[in-house]
Amino acid sequence: MIEQIEEVKRKLLEEIESVKDEKQLEEFRIKYLGRRGIIQTFFDQFKEIPRLEKPTVGKFLNDLKKFAQAIFEDKKREIESSKRKVKRLIDLTIPGRFKYTGRKHPLTQTLEEIEKIFVGMGFEVASGPEIEDDYHNFEALNIPPEHPARDMQDTFFIKENIILRTHTSPVQIRVMESKQPPVRIIAPGRVYRNEAISARSYCLFHQVEGLYVDEGVSFAELKGTLLSFAKQMFGSDVKLRFRPSFFPFTEPSAEVDVSCFICGGKGCRVCKYGGWLEILGCGMVDPNVFRFVGYDSEKYTGYAFGMGVERIAMLKYGIDDIRLFYENDFRFLDQF
Ligand code: PHE
Repeated sequence: MIEQIEEVKRKLLEEIESVKDEKQLEEFRIKYLGRRGIIQTFFDQFKEIPRLEKPTVGKFLNDLKKFAQAIFEDKKREIESSKRKVKRLIDLTIPGRFKYTGRKHPLTQTLEEIEKIFVGMGFEVASGPEIEDDYHNFEALNIPPEHPARDMQDTFFIKENIILRTHTSPVQIRVMESKQPPVRIIAPGRVYRNEAISARSYCLFHQVEGLYVDEGVSFAELKGTLLSFAKQMFGSDVKLRFRPSFFPFTEPSAEVDVSCFICGGKGCRVCKYGGWLEILGCGMVDPNVFRFVGYDSEKYTGYAFGMGVERIAMLKYGIDDIRLFYENDFRFLDQF
């Protein structure tokens, strides 16, 4: 009988291999573990075998039953888990989910572009505080207390003599106070003006200041540097136009227009059919400013310029409302 048991064990192992689904598994169970199955038949015959053989045969028989049950359970689990896998099959036709990666604000992009161009021409990047004192924002820039230029700047006051800077020009003063020429810096940053908010003006915006002081710095150099900047920023075909202007801290002063890079100067919506776009103010540093910072105005000359970053970004990207930069509307930001 032991031999028969071993034989069944071998067959059972062979057969379980070909069991692929629940129906075949059930057939397997009935055949071996059923109430009239092979193993039960052995137990039925067990009564008739000699008493002395009973312990050994009994052990083999019990082992066979346990063994058969174990491989049956294993197979059952295998079939069930493969069924679950089928349910979890991936649908390759579903469109992918788009993952949004962050990106830089259009103003940051424009600022960085401007910085890169000037750094490439040998300028260093300087900065100063947004909360300024009257002296650096006005006085040392040759704007005395009763000067009408103060009216133009719509200043936010924090307390007496402490204000939010209205332009980046105070950084000129701070840099010149801290070192002797040569000085060649740009100073990007936020400025604040208490203006009525509209499509064209906002209570805060960004400027990039430029300052170059050394022996023999000329207006011609200012023109050359700005032209090189404009060509790199707006395209190599652009022209510049210098219009005489006035700033208390530069003399002579000019406002600079770039030929419209959208229409090439023929006239379009962006340049309001004038062919020119105003981009910055500039001039030769006024000797009075040198006196405030303790530079020898007989020995040194310099130029300075200041440009509005929002304005340049608006021109470059055709944006017609400055408020868009500050609303954080994803539909706007997503385009850059
Ligand atoms: N600070 C001036 C403004 O805000 C711009 C400027 C800077 C003009 C430097 C000349 C020289 O309008």
